[in-house]
Amino acid sequence: MSRRSTAPSQVLARSVAELPRGTLAQLRSQARRCRACPLWAHATQTVFGEGPADATLMLLGEQPGTQEDLSGRPFVGPAGGLLDRALEEAGLERAELYLTNTVKHFKYEPRGKLRLHKRANAAEQQACRQWLAAEVASLRPRLIVAMGSMAAQALFGAAFKVTRERGKLRHLGDGTTEGLATWHPSAVLRAPGPGRVRLYQELVADLRVAQQRSRALRTLPAASPAA
Ligand code: URA
Repeated sequence: MSRRSTAPSQVLARSVAELPRGTLAQLRSQARRCRACPLWAHATQTVFGEGPADATLMLLGEQPGTQEDLSGRPFVGPAGGLLDRALEEAGLERAELYLTNTVKHFKYEPRGKLRLHKRANAAEQQACRQWLAAEVASLRPRLIVAMGSMAAQALFGAAFKVTRERGKLRHLGDGTTEGLATWHPSAVLRAPGPGRVRLYQELVADLRVAQQRSRALRTLPAASPAA
């Protein structure tokens, strides 16, 4: 049974009209039945976040791709493979962090036998925001790393540019949770030639910042400001 309140989400850039409440397991089960935007109709399933309920660090992607849609788990396709490698290089364990997406359903355009990835529009992103807000409210991560512009703008607002502002720790709207934006693994995969190497190295460097800050935050009381 879903319990909802109208509390705004202070951590995210935009508030949500209704905030689903519950443990992460309860939220996951409620989100399976979400009909807040049309994306559910053609997707296989809701791809909810995964990870320990006491994780200090949340990693936020954009939206599931075809393999995530089929498996029901975030970042299991090619972008996930690159992310796993970058996490390892940065000294982070995937099993210790909470990994989720800004939008929880796969959006695509059928092309023959293929399903071509399509970016969720602003209305679909806002309809789905309740689930991200609910995950944040339940988990209460100390640091959120946003990968890609959709995720970064969900945290920092529509004017945020990953190209200009990645890699810097900053406080989110509640004044205590910290956020950091970096490249999306798919953007690294798409980058041509030497650009790909540079973006990958920057992704790893940003994840290292997150690794060190989340390790420090684990030992600091919750209201501590960013270093
Ligand atoms: N890209 C994302 O943003 N999320 C996934 O889960 C997979 C690819």
